[in-house]
Amino acid sequence: KVWSREERYQPYEKWEPEYLASLKQKIDTSIWRLGYHIQPATGLLNDPNGFSFFNNQWHVFYQSYPMGPVHGIKSWYHMTSDNLIDWKEEGTKVFPDSLYDSHGVYSGTALPMSDQLFLAYTGNVRDSDWTRHSYQLGAWMDQSGSIKKIEEPLIAAPPAGYTSEFRDPQVFRYKSGYLMTIGAQDEAEKGKILTYQSSDLLSWQCVGELGFTDKDMGFMIECPNLLLTDEFALLIFCPQGLDSDVCPYQNIYPNMYVIGDSYQLESNRLTNPSSLKNLDEGFDVYATQAFKAPDERLLSISWIGLPEIDYPTDQEEWAHCLSIVKELIVEDKKLYQRPVAEMKQLRIDEGIHFDNSKDSFHETATNHYELALSFDSLATGTLTLYADKEQNQGLTIHFDSQRGKMTIDRSHAGVPFGEDYGVVRSFSIEQKPLNVQIFVDSSVVELFINDGEKVATMRAFPETGHTGFHLTCDGDYQGQFWQLRKTN
Ligand code: FRU
Repeated sequence: KVWSREERYQPYEKWEPEYLASLKQKIDTSIWRLGYHIQPATGLLNDPNGFSFFNNQWHVFYQSYPMGPVHGIKSWYHMTSDNLIDWKEEGTKVFPDSLYDSHGVYSGTALPMSDQLFLAYTGNVRDSDWTRHSYQLGAWMDQSGSIKKIEEPLIAAPPAGYTSEFRDPQVFRYKSGYLMTIGAQDEAEKGKILTYQSSDLLSWQCVGELGFTDKDMGFMIECPNLLLTDEFALLIFCPQGLDSDVCPYQNIYPNMYVIGDSYQLESNRLTNPSSLKNLDEGFDVYATQAFKAPDERLLSISWIGLPEIDYPTDQEEWAHCLSIVKELIVEDKKLYQRPVAEMKQLRIDEGIHFDNSKDSFHETATNHYELALSFDSLATGTLTLYADKEQNQGLTIHFDSQRGKMTIDRSHAGVPFGEDYGVVRSFSIEQKPLNVQIFVDSSVVELFINDGEKVATMRAFPETGHTGFHLTCDGDYQGQFWQLRKTN
């Protein structure tokens, strides 16, 4: 089906309820629905928004277009959780229903303010010439979950010298006030991050361009996240059109990060920033959002999906999912991303231990599991997920710890897609005995390498019954397998 602009921007209430019900029916027959990842009820999910802890619960919203697997008129869909793993669907919460967000409630963040949650987001408006206008907007969510939009924009226009590609406000506390970072494009069409400050969340002053690199960042930066602690400043962002000489990447658009020693508002710079690094070595991570939780953990969640790429589930009227929640740890200016400890609560039992077989095939009951492998020496080998009994098919993860290299190939893992951007990802790993922790959930794999020093996330769309995993290697290891509980 080809979607016209009129269809994609038609207000939700113009669609018949039967239409949504028919989408649901079709989706229910999908073999690729996820067991424990946040996925759209119908239609398309993209960026995580408003990830926060408020009213004794975890909250995350996501960019949603419920009417089909395309980027149409966006809203925020709300999910809540007591434990970061069992998520409850609260429904569409922030609708594109005002003068300032008539063509989409775009991405943003949340900040708990005593008994209310403050939401900051971008209102996307198209005028009669289809010219874009971007407004940074605010809303309050009370403890019962009802939303009250702040009538006037927090920021009504980009500052002089910047285009209307101006979105994704991140709001956080800074000293006795608040800061906001916003993804922007200057008039020379260069990607930038702008910093704003406020003492009351309502009136905002532009501080200027955030300094974190002297390199050209492409034509646009989306979804900036600046995380400040006493030890470091971590900036996560999505540069679009980045020259791969600045930092090599293969996805259409990368999700990257920089670590600085600190951040000073006076200079609006990260001190001593690192070079750019890929946040994820896999095929599908974008728009990661992170915040400092009340328990001091830095928690992140990502969109698993990319702009402008078709996925096999488009045929089934749904697209994409969010990642599991990860904890971000910085040690000696190195980022480690680890599954949150709560993920252990998904394990159904003690698991199955296996070791040292140089060639082993394991048939698993379903593709909802966690697998951990820990090698004793600098081993070489291949792990195949989504393997069939004949072992013709599967997602292969080849590792060579001696040379410090890993290669992931999804060309034989079911239905092909995204091939224009390559079916293989190769990257360096530490030259030490390898350990991996892997989460498989029907059509998504999240791979944590060497205690989270590298992470590789990917979708794959295997055929029914391809639920085995196969390991060949030349070294001794300890393996542990856990079937995981479904939460969806
Ligand atoms: C990133 C993004 C954001 C925007 C949102 C719209 O994927 O393009 O910049 O706010 O998605 O859905």
